[in-house]
Amino acid sequence: MRIAVFASGGGSNFQCLLDRVSSGELDVEFAFLLVNNSKCGAVQKAEKAGIKVLHISSKTHGSNDSAESAIVELIKAERIDMIVLAGYMKKLPIELVRKMENKILNIHPALLPAFGGKGMYGMNVHNAVVQMGAQYSGVTIHLVSENYDEGPIVFQDIVKVGYNDSAETVAGNVLAKEHDNYWKVLQGFSQKQITIVGRKVLWEK
Ligand code: GRF
Repeated sequence: MRIAVFASGGGSNFQCLLDRVSSGELDVEFAFLLVNNSKCGAVQKAEKAGIKVLHISSKTHGSNDSAESAIVELIKAERIDMIVLAGYMKKLPIELVRKMENKILNIHPALLPAFGGKGMYGMNVHNAVVQMGAQYSGVTIHLVSENYDEGPIVFQDIVKVGYNDSAETVAGNVLAKEHDNYWKVLQGFSQKQITIVGRKVLWEK
């Protein structure tokens, strides 16, 4: 399975995927890393691993519309089986989401459909969880649909939120869960063990 990874941040999830490919546990080929910010940590991780980096943003392409068209053209031109979002902060072009239905995977640091939607990213999510007094948070790995954080859920796992936990400790615990699981889900797709039936996901082991 040939994948394109999209990232905007530190890239710790991307690094985990690279590591599992190196160890032989994850059977995917990286076509390229796409970033909207050339200074983000994911770029160095890709360069170190010898993976092509593409920077597409309104800065590089003059406007948001031109950047979106460039991304759509890029995916048309390359043979990409799956797009893997690993902390990508830009909204994807709608044309891309339609063309790649059930082929774009995202990881969200909470238990969707709670604590998702517009503005729910990074520490905003963990702050909201702690302020709400929720006793569990977790990780959701889902397919991307036209609305934020609403596509079919492929995988979830929980993290206990204790009385003394801060948003920072929850963030750390959730990130560890992300690292443990994103590659496994991707391997499930790569091995064709995952079938999407409407909103439901069937795993064959
Ligand atoms: C993760 O928390 C993920 O859930 C969210 O963005 C963050 C990316 O972190 N979508 P990193 O750049 O992989 O460290």
